[in-house]
Amino acid sequence: MKHKTVVKEHLAEKYKEVRVCTEKIVAPLQTEDYIIQAGPDASPPKWHLAHTTWFFERFVLKEYKTTYESLNDQFDYLFNSYYETVGEFHPRAKRGVLARPSIEEVKQYRYYVDAHMKELFEELTEENRDKVLSIVEIGLQHEQQHQELLLTDIKYNFFTNPLLPAYISQTTEENGKRKEMSFIEIEGGLIEVGHGDSSFSFDNERPRHKVWLEPYRIADAPVTNREYIEFIEDGGYERPELWLSDGWAHIKKEGWKHPLYWGKDGNEWSIFTLHGQSALNLDEPVCHVSFYEGDAFARWQGKRLPTEQEWEHAFSGIECEGNFVENNFYHPNSQYKGNGPLYKGYGDVWEWTRSPYVLYPKSKPLEGALGEYNAKFMCNQMVLKGGSCATPHSHIRPTYRNFFQPEKRWQFTGFRLAEDI
Ligand code: AVJ
Ligand code: FE
Repeated sequence: MKHKTVVKEHLAEKYKEVRVCTEKIVAPLQTEDYIIQAGPDASPPKWHLAHTTWFFERFVLKEYKTTYESLNDQFDYLFNSYYETVGEFHPRAKRGVLARPSIEEVKQYRYYVDAHMKELFEELTEENRDKVLSIVEIGLQHEQQHQELLLTDIKYNFFTNPLLPAYISQTTEENGKRKEMSFIEIEGGLIEVGHGDSSFSFDNERPRHKVWLEPYRIADAPVTNREYIEFIEDGGYERPELWLSDGWAHIKKEGWKHPLYWGKDGNEWSIFTLHGQSALNLDEPVCHVSFYEGDAFARWQGKRLPTEQEWEHAFSGIECEGNFVENNFYHPNSQYKGNGPLYKGYGDVWEWTRSPYVLYPKSKPLEGALGEYNAKFMCNQMVLKGGSCATPHSHIRPTYRNFFQPEKRWQFTGFRLAEDI
């Protein structure tokens, strides 16, 4: 009894905290910024604010609060992202045409749902408590994912504006120097990966299971801008033998010759960040590269990307500390202190692995509509590990599996190398 009250109050507190974090992320925005969708992958900030709210309304309030009446029934169509089993939804690529509801109305929608959530926390019964709290927890983890998407989408939207506006002014950074890459030997053998304890995880991280790893080496840090420039200058983007067939076709179709957000002023590389345009810091991990680019770089070096199991095994004993969103830096940094001998696995950049995103052995996706959350995307995407400078710290664990199609690069994505022994 006592224990359950604690869990309830803890989650009601956490609910407030997570919702406030979202509002902090959008605080620097001006009204016009809220409705821009510069490409099919990026959503308008206003849509993120409404969709995360809709998630609580649809999966918690409408299911478990008997007296709940929705603010506007049309929001089900507008702010459902992809849950086919709960009804039809507005096409993703057209989220930017929604001048209405206005940002003021969306903020009212947030307050309305927050007030009802507060009531619901008071009204929980013996019968529904565990179920409700487990869905609230998913809703909060979901909102944290959208906090990161908000930042990456704002960055993408701002980059398409020739004025190259800054989202936020630069916080001072202590400049670090990156030493030469070295490789750490890992024995492998019969090991375990996946989430095993009762703390929160998404369904795609379970169950914990055994895998066999041949001995391998993993790079002590992600590939830097300096190293990546060597690849570019060695004709990396012009040599088909370095690329997967789909990757080569994609870079030729798109005309890619460098990572997203890079530019060249004469001989100097520049980069667009959430702080605006600046000179490229060579010691930072390379960021905004696709799986294809990471894979080609690795082949150029005579190496490969790690599998998700190799990555998780290497980092499972390492403290989950790093340059996360709470650092307020909003960009990978050049600090190589702490968690050695392997640096920067957590925070800074999501690291591409060579592993396709597929179901774990004996995995059971959630039942009902929330079963659509992760499992239906298990085709043609690759797993990324470790979180980024835009990820909330409390959102990341060694077993966390992010996933994107191999050509995507608007997220904070980089990579580290591995090799067989
Ligand atoms: C895990 C980041 C690929 O962007 O669709 C948001 C996160 N899932 N709402 C995505 C997510 C449901 C997901 N990624
Ligand atoms: Fe979502």
